[in-house]
Amino acid sequence: MDAPADLLRLCAVTDLDEDEPLRVDAGGTAYAVFQLGADYHVTEDLCSHGPGSLSEGFLVGCEVVCPFHQGRFDIRTGQPTHPPCEVAIRVWEAVVREGEIFIAAGSPKGA
Ligand code: FES
Repeated sequence: MDAPADLLRLCAVTDLDEDEPLRVDAGGTAYAVFQLGADYHVTEDLCSHGPGSLSEGFLVGCEVVCPFHQGRFDIRTGQPTHPPCEVAIRVWEAVVREGEIFIAAGSPKGA
């Protein structure tokens, strides 16, 4: 399907696995897309603490563990939950339409 004008397509639902976050480069930004049960969550891929790629991390409950220094963020809110991470990461609301995952580009949650 064509992406609605106000939405940025990231991937198909079938591209995701609950055990394996997916990195998606779209519109000049690197995103990490997560499946958490029946829900989908989108964060920026770059850790706010350093060079860690959150899509290369793994989930513990609703938290992603950064592979670089094992800091953590809540993928629903972007808030840091475990040191050394102290600064929130941006998160976007995942919009699912016809098996595809979109975000409202440039509009992080709470922004
Ligand atoms: S780069 Fe992610 S915890 Fe340090």
